[in-house]
Amino acid sequence: MFNLILFGPPGSGKGTQSEKLVQHYGFIHLSTGDLLRQEINQQTPLGLEAKQFMDQGKLVPDAIVIGMIDGMIDKYPNTKGFLFDGFPRTVTQAGALDSLLLQKDAKINLVLALAVSENTLIERLIHRGKSSGRSDDVNEEIIKARIKEYSSKTTPVADYYKRFNKVQSIVGEGNVDDIFNNLSKAIEAVYTTNQWKTTKSNS
Ligand code: AP5
Repeated sequence: MFNLILFGPPGSGKGTQSEKLVQHYGFIHLSTGDLLRQEINQQTPLGLEAKQFMDQGKLVPDAIVIGMIDGMIDKYPNTKGFLFDGFPRTVTQAGALDSLLLQKDAKINLVLALAVSENTLIERLIHRGKSSGRSDDVNEEIIKARIKEYSSKTTPVADYYKRFNKVQSIVGEGNVDDIFNNLSKAIEAVYTTNQWKTTKSNS
């Protein structure tokens, strides 16, 4: 199993690039943002609780998202790999993910971090907010709150994986296909080293 995290701040292009990577490589796409929005649309108790946090640009509590991911990993026992988009977002979530994967004799093989300037992130999300219907894109204040949550709670996740030499930074501005090509090159470099076949240790 080859497991990849597509990492980056709100608006960095994780969703856009995940779609292309999933189509090209056949990963199972696990986006906690998409899963939470589905729960909100279905008005489940989990969705109603999560909405209170998402509408303010805050992270949803760890226990909720870890529980969701646990269920999804179990659903695909024979997949060639997962692409995690927007998860893990805290160091607690990263530790939980490692434990869940270890139970399947698997691990995170690569973390690709999209680098995009704050001004570009804000511009992209304000633009998307005009038509997306996403409550967390509606004004600059909420968008900035999301970026602040990312800086304080999510950037330490990159440090967590850097300890294991798994993080590569990819420029996330410019042409969507060029960014996809750079992500693909990074994935294929790790595939060809065959390092991903060693599953039991994190290193
Ligand atoms: P989530 O749904 O994960 O949203 P996000 O991280 O804020 O990311 P976005 O979907 O806004 O952006 P993206 O990086 O996917 O970029 P995209 O491709 O869409 O999370 C939403 C909320 O759910 C969180 O705030 C939190 O409350 C909660 N949540 C989710 N996961 C959680 C977790 N693990 N723990 C706790 N809480 C969690 O692109 C953005 C825009 O830019 C689009 O319009 C796109 O067309 C455009 N664009 C993309 N690439 C380019 C490019 N190269 N050039 C020009 N425009 C581009």
